[in-house]
Amino acid sequence: MTDKTILKALRGEVQKVPPIWMMRQAGRYLPEYRATRAEAGDFLSLCYNSDLAAEVTLQPIRRYGFDAAILFADILLLPQALGADLWFVTGEGPRLSTIQSDADFSALKGKDDIHDTLAPVYETVRILSRELPKETTLIGFAGAPWTVATYMIAGRGTPDQGPAHALRMGNTALFEKVIDLLIEGTIEYLDQQIQAGAEVVKIFDSWAGSLKGEAFEKYAVEPTRKITAELKARHPGIPVIGFPREAGEGYIGFHAKTGVDCVALDNSVTPEWGAANVQKDGCVQGNLASSHMVTGGQALIDEVRHVREAFSHGPHIFNLGHGITPDADPDNVSLMIETLRENA
Ligand code: CP3
Repeated sequence: MTDKTILKALRGEVQKVPPIWMMRQAGRYLPEYRATRAEAGDFLSLCYNSDLAAEVTLQPIRRYGFDAAILFADILLLPQALGADLWFVTGEGPRLSTIQSDADFSALKGKDDIHDTLAPVYETVRILSRELPKETTLIGFAGAPWTVATYMIAGRGTPDQGPAHALRMGNTALFEKVIDLLIEGTIEYLDQQIQAGAEVVKIFDSWAGSLKGEAFEKYAVEPTRKITAELKARHPGIPVIGFPREAGEGYIGFHAKTGVDCVALDNSVTPEWGAANVQKDGCVQGNLASSHMVTGGQALIDEVRHVREAFSHGPHIFNLGHGITPDADPDNVSLMIETLRENA
């Protein structure tokens, strides 16, 4: 059995010092990331340049010694591989061709036709599995079908996921075809990442919180359950982290309903609530507010100790509640790690 701290936590071990990594740890707050991104030309070129994508993945490992590296890529590469147009508008975010009709859906490719586009991502994983320090865990990832569908349907990020909800209610058959294609495509995409060397996979459902009641069960729980079950059938023992962001009460029972090994918590819940309601069922990840990476100081120190203490009675992977932001101070990341590892 491996001694990697992240894998121990995912097996349910309680550790004196929880392992740590950070969402968006390779990102614009780091000067070395900005330099490599400039070398690549733009964000998407960076994602598809295996050597440079591996380089930015390694930068935060070298600088901070995180316990895990997350593959540098984006959840929107899968829709692009399925045939959607994708581009990024500086300062605004992603833009895609939209899906509003059966004709739009029919123009997409099938689940097995994605690998030519995504081959550079698999190559990034292979480079990383060779080059990472032996104690560092490599995490692959994909977006959850609902979250990816919100971008594919609207053609952009939306504050309330309105266009996706409109299609869900107005043309349920078409909406479900999109979800089913994404379930199948995500399985093939993550399967290839695992074959290339990913040791854990994480499913990002950033907009899960806008699904309520039965819709949450059908379009957040069920897709993550199907993807997890199929990956575990193909790769026995592969650990899966689920992240149904802002799910609120939907977090309760999420381990058992989906079969994931770890549930990532965002900042809409307190660590005490997460420990009592979610960690009682298995490993949790989270959930320091990313704003502390901007503000730092004693408040950061106090909150790192608070989060560590609140989750100290069960398996825990320390992380932020959401990605680190471009205005964060790299020194605050060092302070977070030093504080977490004090009294080790
Ligand atoms: O965590 C990591 O460091 C791994 C790489 C990663 C990125 N995006 C790189 C990225 C991961 C896991 C993602 C996930 C992702 N991408 C999500 C789900 C997680 C979340 O944050 O809620 C979503 C919704 C996306 C789609 C996306 N990609 C948006 C909306 C944006 C623009 C917003 C922004 O931050 O600028 C991106 C761009 C993006 N993806 C960047 C990075 C480092 C910034 C691009 C740049 O360098 O300009």
